[in-house]
Amino acid sequence: VIETNFAPTLERWYERHKRDLPWRHTRDPYSIWLSEIILQQTRVAQGKPYYERFLAAYPTITDMARADERELLRLWQGLGYYSRARNLHQTARYITDELVGKFPDTFQNLLKMKGIGVYTAAAIASFAFGERVPVVDGNVYRVLARVFGVSEDITTTAAKKTFSWLAMRLIQRADDPATYNQAIMEFGAIQCTPVAPDCLLCPLQQECVAFQTGRQHLLPVKAKK
Ligand code: ADE
Ligand code: SF4
Repeated sequence: VIETNFAPTLERWYERHKRDLPWRHTRDPYSIWLSEIILQQTRVAQGKPYYERFLAAYPTITDMARADERELLRLWQGLGYYSRARNLHQTARYITDELVGKFPDTFQNLLKMKGIGVYTAAAIASFAFGERVPVVDGNVYRVLARVFGVSEDITTTAAKKTFSWLAMRLIQRADDPATYNQAIMEFGAIQCTPVAPDCLLCPLQQECVAFQTGRQHLLPVKAKK
């Protein structure tokens, strides 16, 4: 029952609670890619003005491909991890020059791009192209570990596989894969938070293994390095 209801419940929750964020109003793969690269190691509040400045400076991928790298790095200033900005530029050039501007439109082909890993490929494939592939990040581990009572150590390969399989099964029940992926990330960001999750107002409370057994604060399990 819980696996059946999970995706639809999150999608309904999302429609009521989602924050209005600029990258949620587009299906343009370039804009979505840019937003996901910025948000990789950056909080939403900090990333938003960067996203807007980048799109103002480079409205299309061709504009970014033609950009002067020093200017691009100047726009990136304050975000850190400058390899992200260099990979952006290189990939913009590659798509513009080698793929004649056609953004890769499947999870598998997105993975071939420099700087696009499993998480980012799934985000672009689902948000821009509606592909039924789950995003799996720290938020998703936390939500799944709590709701389904998965107590495997999330730093292990075995656990990552468990979560990926579970995520793959759950997205099959989603009404819309893009909405569902946004929903599970948003749910982890504002409802099922790392500290003091809002269990008393949670639509999954009745089914949530962590809540029912009082283990919210113990999940997910993450071995100390
Ligand atoms: N963090 C990473 N991707 C995000 C997205 N699409 N919306 C909000 N936060 C995010
Ligand atoms: Fe997270 Fe609490 Fe909801 Fe369970 S009941 S999903 S721990 S917010």
